[in-house]
Amino acid sequence: MDRILINGGNPLQGKVRINGAKNSALKLMAAALLSDEPLVLTNMPDLADTRFMAHLLAHLGVTVTRENGTQMVLHAKALAEPFAPYDLVRKMRATFNVLGPLLARCGFARVSLPGGCAIGARPVDLHLKALEAMGAQIELEEGYALAKAPKGLHGAQISFPFVSVGATEHAMLAAVLAKGETVLDNAAREPEITDLANCLNTMGAKIEGAGSASITITGVSSLGGTNHRVVPDRIEAGTYALAVAATGGDVCIENCTYAHLGALWDRMRAIGVSVESQQEGKSVRITQHNDRCAAADLETQAYPGFPTDLQAQFMAVMCRAEGASIIRETIFENRFMHAPELSRLGADITVHGREAVVRGVPALHGAPVMATDLRASVSLVIAGLAAQGQTEVNRIYHLDRGFEGLERKLSALGADIKRVAVAT
Ligand code: UD1
Repeated sequence: MDRILINGGNPLQGKVRINGAKNSALKLMAAALLSDEPLVLTNMPDLADTRFMAHLLAHLGVTVTRENGTQMVLHAKALAEPFAPYDLVRKMRATFNVLGPLLARCGFARVSLPGGCAIGARPVDLHLKALEAMGAQIELEEGYALAKAPKGLHGAQISFPFVSVGATEHAMLAAVLAKGETVLDNAAREPEITDLANCLNTMGAKIEGAGSASITITGVSSLGGTNHRVVPDRIEAGTYALAVAATGGDVCIENCTYAHLGALWDRMRAIGVSVESQQEGKSVRITQHNDRCAAADLETQAYPGFPTDLQAQFMAVMCRAEGASIIRETIFENRFMHAPELSRLGADITVHGREAVVRGVPALHGAPVMATDLRASVSLVIAGLAAQGQTEVNRIYHLDRGFEGLERKLSALGADIKRVAVAT
């Protein structure tokens, strides 16, 4: 098992290039199941999660090939048995999104209920209800969802009781091949939803309204192949921006979309960091020359609000801020597991349910810490970069799920960071 060693204190300087979005890539890969023609995805990140999804799709009969580093070709010419076993689903929640496409294409499927990050219960009830509204008969048995649609899926009026990214995407993936019209109300509006809709539309689907709270999908009888560029990873971009806020410096974040991070830029300006859109919004320059940022409060919200996936990184910045910050997590009920680890570096954090109070301290001090989930682990890296002395981040397999080349990119920006193998 590897660990990361950081000697903190270096400001970050230079340029960093952002990859395609993991969260979009995973659902786009699932879309390949809907057509017997090849889907070519470019700007694809190479991550543990995308490799894991590729394994599952290969098991389902999809030929998956990676070309030129960032291009992936997925060809679901003929599918194998529509069965997604526990071992290929348990590590990552997004794998559950194969259920809808399998059902749409094969009329039945057996998919294990998912695992994923340990950040709360994260049930899939909204996914199942949406599929049922489209005519699926679903039974839960021994940890599996057994679904069939003997007469095929049909259009439905679906109103989500609260916003769910995964359920919106899942419903879209199933509705594109359903008979008739499906309307999704209170749909998620994340850029990854729009990316998936754009890709499906170029495959021949008829989706309108993606990016708004109401999405209308008119089912078609079949979909073809296409070539699609994955949207930039706003969470990776935001993570580097917050790293600069923590360490100070001047960094240009390239191949990102400025417009997708409005809520983050608002908070960064509130804490005294300069944010400048460049190259028509395809790159962002972050400058921070104060020793410490100001403190500001934060509440996570569905898009276009502040992303829960950047909450831990923002908290890491607040640990050294001047003043106190109240951070409220509204999306997941158990997403402060990074707080006790940050406290090991000297942070002053009190958690009350869904709220954390962070009282900024003048300095953090390096210590061994343990990653608990994907975004929490990168918050420990950010805190380590801002701390005095050496920080050792353990259990970094979480990081490899979502951040390609993190140490390489941070080293190129001047950080003293390296990965070391630990003998087991
Ligand atoms: C996706 C992202 C994740 C991000 C999250 C919120 C991927 C692969 N992951 O996760 O990085 O943090 O959106 O922006 O895209 N819920 C239910 N029942 C359901 C579905 C969800 O109760 O059937 C709850 C969840 O427990 C959570 C909330 O709804 O509390 C939002 O979850 P959701 O938007 O579905 O997140 P994911 O799609 O799992």
